[in-house]
Amino acid sequence: MNIIEIISKKRDRENLNKEEIEYFIKEYTNGNITDYQAAALVMAIYINGMNDEEITNLTLAMAHSGEMLDLSAFGKNVVDKHSTGGVGDKVTLILAPIIASFGIPVAKMSGRGLGFTGGTIDKLESIPGYCTDISIEEFIENVKNIGISLIGQTLNLAPADKKIYALRDTIACTDSIPLIASSIMSKKIAAGANKIVLDVTCGSGAFMQNYEDAKKLSETMNKIGKLAGKETVCVLTNMEEPLGYAIGNNLEVIEAVEFLKQDMPEDVKQVVLELGAYMIKLAGFGENIEENKQKILEKIKTKEAYEKLLQLVENQGGDTSYLENTDKFAKAKYILEVKAKQDGYIYSIDARKVGELSGKLGAGRLRKEDPIDETVGIVLNKKVSDFVKQGEVLAYVHANDENQASSAVKKLQEIYKIQENKIEKPKAILGVIL
Ligand code: URA
Repeated sequence: MNIIEIISKKRDRENLNKEEIEYFIKEYTNGNITDYQAAALVMAIYINGMNDEEITNLTLAMAHSGEMLDLSAFGKNVVDKHSTGGVGDKVTLILAPIIASFGIPVAKMSGRGLGFTGGTIDKLESIPGYCTDISIEEFIENVKNIGISLIGQTLNLAPADKKIYALRDTIACTDSIPLIASSIMSKKIAAGANKIVLDVTCGSGAFMQNYEDAKKLSETMNKIGKLAGKETVCVLTNMEEPLGYAIGNNLEVIEAVEFLKQDMPEDVKQVVLELGAYMIKLAGFGENIEENKQKILEKIKTKEAYEKLLQLVENQGGDTSYLENTDKFAKAKYILEVKAKQDGYIYSIDARKVGELSGKLGAGRLRKEDPIDETVGIVLNKKVSDFVKQGEVLAYVHANDENQASSAVKKLQEIYKIQENKIEKPKAILGVIL
């Protein structure tokens, strides 16, 4: 077997067998296949596609290309949750303590933000003292002791995906369903869970820009999950406008903490309840989705979920006084109002543009090693379908540079689209693919 034969097969629209796929992944990860050969094969996959068996073999080969986390000590129903990425997505910060408050183990590795999307690890690190870089032994010990731990990518999970993902970025091959599905599922499989709930975002601030593509991606990931013996549920969520009101690291932590104190923006609430209800079901803690949602609301009302967050933060060295009083979080130097130029109904707040703007203010990074500014970002005051009067505040810009702040105000005035006609509140949940 050699890589040239494998490339020609895919170029000629033939299916690759398991051995060929495993050979490619192993040798590319080891550096024995060049980037230009891998690029040729990835492009052939992009153009000619893969069938379900090929996608599953690719996923499993990538999952096994590095370390595999063993979470079997926590039982046979270990549930993980993952989002395909978005703007203002603080759902993990809210959902992880909720799930742990049911006694369901939460052992989660999360990523950092890149490009216009944020990352849970950056957000957690804006809580003074919180340590995301602990050993795997400590991570497992924490879950045994208090039922929850959230950390960064300590292990070398799915290194083949890291190489292929970086390559895809440079050869215009990011938006391919087989490649996205195998990339996401390989990491989830390597992360040790055997039940997976996926938040498949859909809209301007997501990889999948329309419902049909999001549905296709979900169906593909469900099939991979089934063939790999990991029950998978995909919840399709709206990412046309940012989720919730806050975009930026400590601003999102504040929104997440206040959520657990019962100040719940409606769209965030819908997403948390839907994903959470399926996580509870897959964990074997309740068959009925609507009843599970009520149980979640009860955990919030009784403050059990909030108490679990305090326990998590304290256990990983974080200063919980910041959660008790979120006014303690450091603030940006300039907080400027963005005012409406006309009366009317808001019909669009492009999530991607808001994410990019927040990133430029310093909340995001272009390269992995770039530093981020925890204090900056954008807080929306109005969402799609809200009515505004001319001069009313649409949003607030939080910035540490005066020029950047005033430029962001102008940009946000353009990003907010206002019309005379009333429009319906957009749905937060677009569908569930079982
Ligand atoms: N997220 C991933 O991890 N991989 C992709 O290819 C797309 C989104």
